[in-house]
Amino acid sequence: MTDQELIEEALKAREKAYAPYSHHKVGAALLTKEGKLYLGCNIENAAYGPTNCAERTAFFNAVYEGEREFSAIAVVGGMEDAPELPICAPCGVCRQVMMEFCDPKTFRVVLGTNRPEKFEVLTLEQMLPLGFGPKALN
Ligand code: THU
Repeated sequence: MTDQELIEEALKAREKAYAPYSHHKVGAALLTKEGKLYLGCNIENAAYGPTNCAERTAFFNAVYEGEREFSAIAVVGGMEDAPELPICAPCGVCRQVMMEFCDPKTFRVVLGTNRPEKFEVLTLEQMLPLGFGPKALN
């Protein structure tokens, strides 16, 4: 699957976002090493704190299905009425969840928009330098 195809899946996932408080809608498409796809959207809550980001929804969907090995995630997000989406970088909590299941040197984070020519790709290590992960507890 190409980065652009992954971004398009994330844009579809974004349509499911439940964001009545922030009106900031996010979608994520997570690719396993075997090429399977898991989607997620942000799910907000009236108490604010229980809100789940799109990236974590995608990871938790995948992990529930038994997946443990991932190669890339595409993320797209922005205000619901914005005609053009900006680059939406994952929050620190989501980066930490990626650190739990992904190799920081090879896991690719594709930051997409609704314009095919506007996207960025970073490794998890670039997004979370010196990240604390499961290896520290071995
Ligand atoms: N959000 C995500 O889903 N992913 C991100 O990468 C950044 C923030 C959500 C959480 C909340 O529902 C809304 O965007 C505003 O913070």
